[in-house]
Amino acid sequence: MMLKYIITITIIAAFTFILVSFNRWEKAPELIHRNSPVQDSAFGNAAAHYQTYCGGCHGEKMNAFVDRKWKHGNSRNDLFKAIKMGYENEGMPSFDSAFNEKEIYQLSDYILSGIKNVDRYSSSDKPQSNIFKTEELTIRLDTVLKGLDVPWGMAFLPAGEMLVTDRNGKFYYVKKDRSFTLVKGTPEVVAAGQGGLLDVVLDPDYASNKNIYLSYSRGKKDDNGKELATTAILKARFENGVLTNQKDIFIAQPYSPTKHHYGSRMQFGKDGYLYFSVGERGNEKQNPQQIKGNDLGKIHRIKSDGSIPADNPFVKTAGAQASIYSYGHRNPQGMSIHPQTGKIWTNEHGPRGGDEINIINPGLNYGWPDITYGINYSGKPMSPNTKTEKPGMEQPLYQWTPSIGPSGLAFVTGNKYKGWEGNLMSGSLRFQYINRSVLKDTKVVREEILFKNIGRVRDVRMAPDGYLYIAVESPGIIYKLTPVD
Ligand code: HEC
Repeated sequence: MMLKYIITITIIAAFTFILVSFNRWEKAPELIHRNSPVQDSAFGNAAAHYQTYCGGCHGEKMNAFVDRKWKHGNSRNDLFKAIKMGYENEGMPSFDSAFNEKEIYQLSDYILSGIKNVDRYSSSDKPQSNIFKTEELTIRLDTVLKGLDVPWGMAFLPAGEMLVTDRNGKFYYVKKDRSFTLVKGTPEVVAAGQGGLLDVVLDPDYASNKNIYLSYSRGKKDDNGKELATTAILKARFENGVLTNQKDIFIAQPYSPTKHHYGSRMQFGKDGYLYFSVGERGNEKQNPQQIKGNDLGKIHRIKSDGSIPADNPFVKTAGAQASIYSYGHRNPQGMSIHPQTGKIWTNEHGPRGGDEINIINPGLNYGWPDITYGINYSGKPMSPNTKTEKPGMEQPLYQWTPSIGPSGLAFVTGNKYKGWEGNLMSGSLRFQYINRSVLKDTKVVREEILFKNIGRVRDVRMAPDGYLYIAVESPGIIYKLTPVD
């Protein structure tokens, strides 16, 4: 009797177990399908919304959300709140006007489910080799330095050595054999949002005076103890891996509570003056068009001691910041000197669309935010009066819509790259490639995408050894572009 009972129970248990496992096994493919965001109707139009509204800043493949240290929590409601309200001071727009609540929840679910599965559909996009066949050349990417976080700027010292800034505040001195040390005596930086230790350039007379220049996010507290920051330029003497004689030769006014749009690219012109960009710090209504008492959203020109060249365009304008060279800029993060004309060329981030290449001429207004080829992140025009052109405002030489997120800019000079001579190279943060623009005089006549998916490209430089070097982010790596037969 007892035995019969036990046998019956065992049979029922075994049967239940088989049913449950079978069911689980059956469910597995569906689970994969559910987590594969692109096809799932449970997310409504979230996949398309993500591509249109979010990918530009957070990565086409949700890159910014994978393995993330979440600042504001990663529950469904945390994401909902971030998307609906935004975090204005951090550069996260509000999408309240773009989506209804259901769409916001669908986006939140889409992200939460997508990041679990991201490996499945992103690893195959990563380049499988460091050799790339391009239209004109085969290029090998040689690793010069790795283990960085967000390498932002590079400068080339004599004898094959180099300096590399990392946005987190570290400053690397790289020897010819590619060993490195951390430079001592660097400024204290506000490493938050898009800020930190940013660009680096050498003095044109570095060989004799050993001076270098660093751009960085400089912090201070306002009267109520609130943290503010601004773009500053530090001049210092660099010798034997140490900085001495540090002096801030420029501090952009006013300081701002936001954590983005610092600009910060620097170049010495053929005139021996230092040109650099300051972004509008996420406040386009006040800063870019205001030249009185306002350095933000501008390209500046100063002497290497911080004083103002007498022929700067606004030295005689009452109340204007005398260092301003041009205005109406958003966030220029690429700058290069044209090898023949000596003109300053820049690229800058538009909002959603309307990234630009510009040739910078003294005293001119480049139009942001009154004219732009981009629109607001929410999908609406910047304002009812925004146009693409207006009298008295410069047209870009070229514009990218959709935005590529340009950072770093270099002309190809020398004879190492057959077929690329005179081309303009821009890094793309968003699409993780190098954009090669073929120029005819001042027109872009053709473009090629190089090294797709190598990582967010932050800087592109032509080095004195005749080779191009590029810096990619997270993981931070410096590559040298070596042509191979
Ligand atoms: C203009 C660039 C930009 C766009 C466009 C943008 N974001 Fe953000 N987002 C940011 C920034 C900057 C932050 C602040 C955190 C940081 O520094 O990464 C942020 C933060 C967030 C956070 C909070 C992250 C955390 O760590 O807590 C979420 C969630 C988020 N964004 C989702 C979205 C979604 C969804 C979209 C599209 C509807 C979107 N974002 C569009 C720039 C952007």
